[in-house]
This record gives sequence, C-alpha cells and structure tokens, in this order.
Amino acid sequence: MAIDYSQLIPNNVDLSSDRRLQRALENWQPRFLDWWKDMGPDGTSAFDVYLRTAISTDSNGWANFGYVKMPEYRWGIFLADRDPNREIAFGDNKGKPAWQDVPGELRSTLRRLIVTQGDTEPASVEQQRLLGKTAPSLYDLRNLFQINVEEGRHLWAMVYLLHAYFGRDGREEAEAMLERHSGDPDKPRILGAFNEATPDWLSFFMFTYFTDRDGKYQLASLAESGFDPLARSCRFMLTEEAHHMFVGETGVGRILQRTCELMKEHRTDDVRSLGGIDLPTIQKYLNFHFSVSLDLFGQEASTNAANYYTQGVKGRFLETRIDDDHLLVNANYEIDTVEDGRIVRKAVPALQALNERLRQDYIDDCAKGVLRWNKTIERAGIDFELSLPHRAFDRQIGAFAGMRVSPTGKVLSEAEWNAHKDHWLPTDEDRAYVTSLMGAAVTQPGKYAHWIAPPARGINNQPVDFEYVRFN
Ligand SMILES: [Fe+2]
Ligand SMILES: [Fe+2]
Repeated sequence: MAIDYSQLIPNNVDLSSDRRLQRALENWQPRFLDWWKDMGPDGTSAFDVYLRTAISTDSNGWANFGYVKMPEYRWGIFLADRDPNREIAFGDNKGKPAWQDVPGELRSTLRRLIVTQGDTEPASVEQQRLLGKTAPSLYDLRNLFQINVEEGRHLWAMVYLLHAYFGRDGREEAEAMLERHSGDPDKPRILGAFNEATPDWLSFFMFTYFTDRDGKYQLASLAESGFDPLARSCRFMLTEEAHHMFVGETGVGRILQRTCELMKEHRTDDVRSLGGIDLPTIQKYLNFHFSVSLDLFGQEASTNAANYYTQGVKGRFLETRIDDDHLLVNANYEIDTVEDGRIVRKAVPALQALNERLRQDYIDDCAKGVLRWNKTIERAGIDFELSLPHRAFDRQIGAFAGMRVSPTGKVLSEAEWNAHKDHWLPTDEDRAYVTSLMGAAVTQPGKYAHWIAPPARGINNQPVDFEYVRFN
C-alpha cells in the first residue's frame, strides 16, 4: 500500500478511516516534536540534511533521497504489506491465522514487549544528542542524522501500535515514552545499555555496530510474532536498521584503516602521538559495547522467553526457515551457565533457552564484522587481531552477572580482575584521550578528521565530497 503523504501523519494504515485514532495520534505528534526539539540532535533545526525518506514500503519506494530540515522530516506509520494468508509459525497456536487484534489474555505481555522495544528508539537519539558537534565529516554527520530520524520513526511505529490496539493504557505508555530519558536518575530508560553515554564517535560506531544489532535481533524475533500488526511494523523497521549497522561497521573499519596507515607510515605502534586511535583502545571499546549489548538479551534460562514462544508472541530469529517442529516441547539446547563458580555447558529445555539462542545468533553475526575488520588490519601487514570477548566477560545481567571473567573466558579472583581490567576495558584516561580527538565538527565537504579514513563510497552514489549537510 502506498504511503499517504497528504495527511498530517504520513501512513499506510488508512489512518483517516479511524478518526478517533487519528486525533489521538495528532495529539501525540506535537509532544513528539517538542521532545525532538529538546532531546534530539542539538542545535540542528535549520540544517538541510541529505536524508532518506520512505514514500512506500516496497523496494523502490523506501529510500528516497533529498534535502530535509529534520524537524520537518515526515515521521510516519509504515507497516510492511499484509499477507492475508499468514499463519502463526510456532508455539501452541501454530497453524492458526495470525491475529489482527490483540488476544485478551496476551494484552499485558504484548504491551510490555512493545513498550520495551519502543523505549530504546528515542533513548538512542538522546544518547547521540551532542555528537553532531564533533562530527568527523559531513558524510558522518548526515549518517548520524539519518539514524536519529529513523529511530524517531521507530518510536512512531511502536506508539502507533500502543494507540491503535491498547486503548487508554497504550496512550499512557505512549506519553511515558517521552517522559523517560536516557541516563535520567529519576526516570531512566528501561534497559541498561540505553542509559550509557555515547560521548564520542568511536563509542557511536561501536554502539551502532553492537547495540543496533541487538535491535535487529529483537525486531527479527518480533517480526515472527503472531500479532500481525507488530510483525509487519518490525519487518519494515528491519529494512531501516540495516543502515545503522552499516554505519557502525564501516565507521570502525575506517578508524582501523586510518590507524593502520599511521602505524605503517611512521613505523610505530604509538599511534596516540600521531593523533590516531591505537588498536588496543579500539579492542577495549569493542569489549565494552559487546558485553553491554549481550546483557540486552536477558537471562540465559528464562521462563518468560519460553512463555512468549509458546504463546506465539515472540519467535526465533528467522523462525520459518528453521527445520524443526516449531513447538520445542521435547527439545534441548546447550547453554553456558555457572555452577559452583565455574562456567559449565549444560543442556536445558530448548524453550527456556530462547534468549540464549537469540544471543548466539547475535554473537555469530557480530563475529562476521570482526573478521572483516581484521582483514583491514591484515591487509596493512600489521600483526594484530581484534576479537569478541567471551560471553561471560563483564556481564551485569544473567548467570555471569557479578563474576570476574577474562575476555578469553577464564574465571578470575577479584585481585586478578583488578590487576588486568584496565587492559580490557576503557579507562578514564582512554576515554579522555578519545574525547580529546573529537574536535569541532569537520564541515568542509570532502574533508575528514585526522583519526578516520574517508569512506569507500558516498551515500546514494553521491561522491564522498558531496555536501551532505548544509548549515544555512
Ligand atoms: Fe530502531
Ligand atoms: Fe537503529
């Protein structure tokens, strides 16, 4: 269905046929815009940004490029097309038609899942609020803003579901989305990783590589949901999410490339004296962002996860492509967990292990980008390998929370941990160094900050020296 842009709120859900819903969302819209003004990218309202806007959800229409002032971005409600024959693919309701409305007994479960997902979207915009001031190029600045407007749209996607299907409770939850704020001591965002600061561009690229990728896996499992409007929302969000992870992967890759150039050119490991980011520091940031993101998948063995699956509200990654009974009642799955202070591998009922299974899919995906980063280092002839730390490293949630575990998975005493932790996680000094590189934004087309290489190609076939942002 084409997107109706004549409406105040662009949408492909025939919003004008439901006046009550339309009015409720039109009431929420100015609050969203106030939030964008107060908590979105700071001081940017006059900028013309070369942005991608969806004009339909098919492959031709979802990526339309042009200059837009961000407060005028057409945030809207776009669901992937409905498949009238879609059936629930798993759990007790397997084979039944997908629900077009919320089953009464699943109301609070679905609301909670939608609120938790929705809360992450504006959170990341808040976390990235000040990054524009130190952008390493116009290309990067534009990518930051693209991600910001799309996270705003993802909030719209979830708020639409709350308004359309959850009545008064849903409307209250939609209000609360704009009242919690990232890092706010009184009203924080729901999940830990979304209350961390994103103070510099190395953090930003690591965040978009690792934490946006958690988003991909959560959205993908909600895209399997028996609740069809949620599934269709998430499917369209996934197409946008891919760009966010691209920004992270290529951003880290370009920093690595620059670091390697400096190392080779000057025949030294001491990249800091040359104004670059040294490889060990990049590894420490990787360790931090990976482990924080692993926490987002929840407990290794989880009754909630089992219930979500059995009830048909949240599936596995690419559920329909998995060759098994999609019930999992008699299946087992091996997880790493802790017994007597040791990490052990143990078979548990597969239904309880669904968080861990999703986390494993995520880890496998993360590892692919690390391989590509290592290729960049290898091509430069430098003997250094980045690696993902062990899943038990520096965890705050799940079986490993509070344990001291090295990046290779060795359980440590407190004293051993304290002796090494500064080699594994960014220290205050590392953070101060990285922050010190983040000078005033580089605003000349085609110019890039010293610590990062230009991209291999521009956005939408534009050159790398294209004027991606005009400041007016
Ligand atoms: Fe998102
Ligand atoms: Fe994202």
